Amino acid sequence: MKIIAHRGSSGTYPENTLAAFQAAANLRVDGVEFDVHMTKDGELVVIHDETIDRTTNGGGYIKDFTYKELRQYDAGSWFSPTFANEKIPALEEVLSIFKETNMTVNVELKSDIVPYEGMTERVLRMVHDFDMEEQVIISSFDHEALEQAKQLAPHVQTALLTMEVMVDVADYAHLLKAEAIHIALPAAYRKMTKVALSKGAIIRVFTVNDVVQATELLEIGVHAIFTDYPEKMVDLVNE
Ligand code: G3P
Ligand code: CA
Repeated sequence: MKIIAHRGSSGTYPENTLAAFQAAANLRVDGVEFDVHMTKDGELVVIHDETIDRTTNGGGYIKDFTYKELRQYDAGSWFSPTFANEKIPALEEVLSIFKETNMTVNVELKSDIVPYEGMTERVLRMVHDFDMEEQVIISSFDHEALEQAKQLAPHVQTALLTMEVMVDVADYAHLLKAEAIHIALPAAYRKMTKVALSKGAIIRVFTVNDVVQATELLEIGVHAIFTDYPEKMVDLVNE
């Protein structure tokens, strides 16, 4: 079972910041996951929510800021004053960190709430320009974006994200040509996971911060977990 640092090492550093990503890269776990939105002037930025309210000292929708405006905000102090210098990173800054590693890089397109026009193309172009197409997995709750990604770059892996219990998630993933399925807890414990595994599906589960749950998922046979505490989970899979 692989370990993927969710939003970087986000249990111990402010999520989706360069500090959290550098910590994950230093751990050399199997992979990292992060979330991408797009600014008013078309820059790709790494942040979870569609607004900056929760994780910065500012407020408002990302789509309403230029990149330069967004960079004025502090993206670390909400977590701890130690991280007051952290900014909302640009996608290229984050890719630069992981290009130097052999870690899998899961880019989640956050176009399910704000439908950012042209974001899928921009992300794929940047991944191509960084020569990281074999290292990257594109995932999204926006399944239309996954379909579009496959049309634009069939060789880049995709993964459908779901929080729902579905009758045949493996067949649905096949329909979207997605190579993997990323399932939320607690849906991951439902029959659909075992059925999908028996059909040969690749299953990764988010977000698993409890070692007991991680052990149960390991026994079920899921392929990876996303965790905010990668340092804690590494020992589990190495035992
Ligand atoms: O990609 C797995 C997980 O990150 C999806 O949910 O809300 O944490 O982005 P969320
Ligand atoms: Ca995410």
